[in-house]
Amino acid sequence: MYKAFYSLKRNPFEITPDPSFLFPTNRHNEALAALYYGVRRHKGFVVLTGEVGTGKTVLLHYVLQLFKQSKDVAYAYIFNGRLSPVEFLQYLASDLGLPAGSKNKGELLLQIAQYVIGRSQRGLTTALVVDEAHHLSAEILEEIRLLSNLETPQEKLLQILLVGQPELDEKLDSVSLRQLKQRIALRSHLLPLTSDETKGYVERRLQLAGCPYPSVLFPPETIAAVYQHSQGLPRLINTVCENALIAAYARQMRSVSPDIIDDIATDFRLGIQTPALESRNSDEVDARKAAQTLLQLYAQLQAEQKRDEDVKTRVRLRVAE
Ligand SMILES: Nc1ncnc2c1ncn2[C@@H]1O[C@H](COP(=O)(O)OP(=O)(O)OP(=O)(O)O)[C@@H](O)[C@H]1O
Ligand SMILES: [Mg+2]
Repeated sequence: MYKAFYSLKRNPFEITPDPSFLFPTNRHNEALAALYYGVRRHKGFVVLTGEVGTGKTVLLHYVLQLFKQSKDVAYAYIFNGRLSPVEFLQYLASDLGLPAGSKNKGELLLQIAQYVIGRSQRGLTTALVVDEAHHLSAEILEEIRLLSNLETPQEKLLQILLVGQPELDEKLDSVSLRQLKQRIALRSHLLPLTSDETKGYVERRLQLAGCPYPSVLFPPETIAAVYQHSQGLPRLINTVCENALIAAYARQMRSVSPDIIDDIATDFRLGIQTPALESRNSDEVDARKAAQTLLQLYAQLQAEQKRDEDVKTRVRLRVAE
């Protein structure tokens, strides 16, 4: 509704993971390279983790687009980790275009193995891509480990990308999965954006949506308020900016002012701690449940921001060395 008023060709802040909007921060680039080259160079296992809404799925969609164009990579894309082991293998087989019908686990495994080996003999690549991998059960992770046994002395035959929230790291750290953990060739972790990246991110989205003057519509002080309230989490940035555009349009303002951002942050109750999150450190289960809502998500950011700062300090130290 505000598009014509602001001369926009499309909505700049959709929360769908549309790869055409990808803003390549250093971290996102590194993660992209790990996912892409991990598959291309037949590294076997690649793991990408990141807090809720940091851009894991959008990166994955970007990489899958590249694979689709390349023709020599076939992949199965699984984003529902809450399956039984047989359902998982059935899904995997049918996404690779194999008949999965009423087969049992052994038959499914054999069929998948034959398919992967056959492709490898023809110089083709096969990948298993799992988003939301933090939901995978230990049983399915064990099936995946068995599939990763398909190898020659030189290389892995099935490339496996596991993408998920930080709980995935915790799962992979567990004693029962240490065999799988040892096979991970590449690992990346996404963090929220810095304030400079937030500015670049908002401006790029506006540009891609056809905005003629991004810095008029979202002046620097407004973007500073967006960063303050979103703490650099892309999904939250989108939510705040989308609502800001609606509010500014309702007031027929040509430029979004910082107080509009403050109002939206108040409406969304950003920055307000919930009792569940206050006890986050002492109760992992509460934190996991809490991470599922927008409000609770924001409270997690304080921990993330600190980690970000730690990383920056480490990078600074390394640069100074
Ligand atoms: N680097 C980026 N460039 C452009 N858009 C991004 C970027 N990172 C995140 N986004 C946008 O932020 C929103 C959330 O991203 P995405 O769904 O990929 O997060 P996620 O890490 O997969 O979250 P979840 O853990 O909830 O699955 C999407 O609208 C996505 O397009
Ligand atoms: Mg996702």
